[in-house]
Amino acid sequence: MPNNVIVLGTQWGDEGKGKIADLLTSKANIVVRSQGGNNAGHTLVVGSKKVVVRLVPSGILHKDCLCLIGSGVVVNPSALFEEIEELNRAGVENVESRLKLSAGSSLLLPVHPAIDKGAEKLRGKSAIGTTGRGIGPCYEDKVARRGVRVGDLYDMEFLKERLKNLLEYRNFQLKNYYKEPEISFDEVYSYLENIRERLLSMVADISLILANAKKEHQKVLFEGAQGTFLDIDYGTYPYVTSSNTVAGGCVTGSGAGPLDIDYVLGIAKVYTTRVGGGPYPTELNDEIGEGIRKRGAEFGAVTGRPRRTGWYDAVAMRRAVTINSITGLALMKMDVLDGMDELKICTAYKLKDGTLSELPPLSAHEYEGVTPVYESMPGWKESTFGITKWDDLPENAQKYIRRLEELSGAKVAILSTGPEREQTIYLDDPFAD
Ligand code: GDP
Ligand code: IMO
Ligand code: MG
Repeated sequence: MPNNVIVLGTQWGDEGKGKIADLLTSKANIVVRSQGGNNAGHTLVVGSKKVVVRLVPSGILHKDCLCLIGSGVVVNPSALFEEIEELNRAGVENVESRLKLSAGSSLLLPVHPAIDKGAEKLRGKSAIGTTGRGIGPCYEDKVARRGVRVGDLYDMEFLKERLKNLLEYRNFQLKNYYKEPEISFDEVYSYLENIRERLLSMVADISLILANAKKEHQKVLFEGAQGTFLDIDYGTYPYVTSSNTVAGGCVTGSGAGPLDIDYVLGIAKVYTTRVGGGPYPTELNDEIGEGIRKRGAEFGAVTGRPRRTGWYDAVAMRRAVTINSITGLALMKMDVLDGMDELKICTAYKLKDGTLSELPPLSAHEYEGVTPVYESMPGWKESTFGITKWDDLPENAQKYIRRLEELSGAKVAILSTGPEREQTIYLDDPFAD
């Protein structure tokens, strides 16, 4: 009986994780975020209402759902509070009392966005195109063991020393390397004094909550952020984010046990998008790509940047399927491909030396000279928007989906035909008894 289900992105983010996490939460007791921070932007649409969550797990719209933030997440307290206010204003009930936070989560401080922006400026032409939220620098401090964590707020004297050390290091960098204004210790310290009580009231042992949930056979949804090819180890390095976005990260970042996961639902669009820099073999820099961007409203939920668009990439997908132990796929935004004459699917990469590869390279520089090998399929003229039954899909749409399954090596469990909850075709239920 699947109780612990991971929902994660198999491409470069923005696959539609929010919609699916929200949808499956009608069956889940708990939703947990394990990595990333407010670089994520997950869109939830209920009726005419649209909500974008960044740090808060996408289960929050379901009034009985407990929402957890694990140790692997980097938490910007003011961004979190802002988001809670937004949700309160939208009429979501008991947001703060249903939100629990690990003492081990890293505190993302005002110095981190400053470093993020300074570093991007210095990178010039090879800028990563980060969200500018300070995610990378916060993870740097964590890994360098100079970071401050939520639990440090229990002991302000201890925190004071840690913060002094951190700011001394970062301010030296800001001043001498990035030529940017320094960040005042006093300001950051008094900011932390101000947010301390409120943040600590949300602290809980997330790992223990998950262990107890398992004993009680509760249903838990692990909500990934970003996507497989933005993973720090397996993405198109260095054009990646700074956390493990793959299934393994859901386990380490939440404190669940590796054998507790019953089902991994991989989310993919039926085409691809990417925001920011980095290799993208199937990118379309033409009117077809522009059409997909327009019909799919492909603009960043966090930064509003236009997303790069391209054909479905089965080469990348094959890697995503094995690396994440994908049980089933949720294929999204079917309706965006309506009305196209021809659809292409990338089945292999032709490398610089002319050889073909069915799996993607590991680092960005190895993508140099890579060209996609395409298979072509006819499109469909009918609208698929809002269709809820497989049999109602145009024949060519059915064929396209079946071919994506074959080429990717995973079965489709869910097919999405619109942004709303109801605009969904179910072929398999990840939480089914
Ligand atoms: P996430 O970061 O993976 O949660 O995805 P985002 O929320 O950043 O981007 C996905 C966008 O696609 C959102 O605006 C969703 O409302 C929208 N969306 C999700 N599924 C569908 C679908 O099947 N069709 C259409 N047209 N839009 C969808
Ligand atoms: P969700 O969860 C799409 C991208 C940025 C940039 C790179 C590094 O909504 O899918 P960072 O600020 O993390 O250091 O930026 O990663 N990126 C995302 N792209 N969706 C996201 O999140 C992203 N989070 C980060 O555009 O290329
Ligand atoms: Mg997003």
